Amino acid sequence: MSEVKTSPFGFRDVEQREKVALVHGVFRNVAAKYDLMNDVMSGGVHHLWKDAACARLNPQPGEIIVDCAGGTGDIARRLAKLARQAKARREMRGHEAADADIRIIDYNEAMIMAGRDKSEKKGLYEPEISWSVGDAMNLALPDDSIDAYIISFGIRNVGDVQAAIDEAYRVLKPGGRFFCLEFSHPESPLVETVYEAYSFKLIPFMGKLIANDRDSYQYLVESIKRFPDQETFRGMMQKAGFTRVTYTNYSGGVCALHEGWK
Ligand SMILES: C[S@@+](CC[C@H](N)C(=O)[O-])C[C@H]1O[C@@H](n2cnc3c(N)ncnc32)[C@H](O)[C@@H]1O
Repeated sequence: MSEVKTSPFGFRDVEQREKVALVHGVFRNVAAKYDLMNDVMSGGVHHLWKDAACARLNPQPGEIIVDCAGGTGDIARRLAKLARQAKARREMRGHEAADADIRIIDYNEAMIMAGRDKSEKKGLYEPEISWSVGDAMNLALPDDSIDAYIISFGIRNVGDVQAAIDEAYRVLKPGGRFFCLEFSHPESPLVETVYEAYSFKLIPFMGKLIANDRDSYQYLVESIKRFPDQETFRGMMQKAGFTRVTYTNYSGGVCALHEGWK
């Protein structure tokens, strides 16, 4: 009999296939209010974390970059802006430069639709960005084909975290860079206590109030608590083959950016 693979879904362990369906339900439910809830829950701080991560990635003209689990496009828009600025600087110096090719891949159509609606409503010009439905654990991309990969607040939701890291390694070119921005574990026990009280007591309540969905936000806080800590995640990246693996804690470790090279 083949072994059934389980995966954490919040505080429960469920079959990996079931987790995929459950997470799909969560993001289908929250898609319309996703951006608003992020702003309220983090007091806007998630924008600073995303700015820092994208500046660190430092996208260049002509690069192919995957924004995996890209959701409503927060990361891709920042990367497009930075790459456009880099292109303009290069052209000012008299060199030719191509647009960056930034690919949002997310397996939830509702999140993609919410992101595309946002771009349309704001009249954003985003020639660098493309959107497609796909699975972080099985990307429809050839081996060694992309320059950089980023996954922001997405990896804790996939069925098999190690499989998603391995898949990123597969599609990156030799010399390509991997970035993972994710909630993590605060360094100070005091911050941890305050943060836990806030997450478990207030976030599901806000989810009910703003998005009329307590359960999805209860899942989100439980999934953060169960996600591997900074050193464990670093080890998982090394296991996939990444070298020069480092991480930077943001807000005392509430969030961390891991990076590594293929
Ligand atoms: C918390 S949102 C993050 C969105 C965006 N990256 C951001 O930083 O705002 C998590 C996203 O992961 C996506 N996701 C979950 N599992 C996935 C998988 N296996 N493959 C691709 N996307 C996945 C969800 O659909 C959702 O859009």
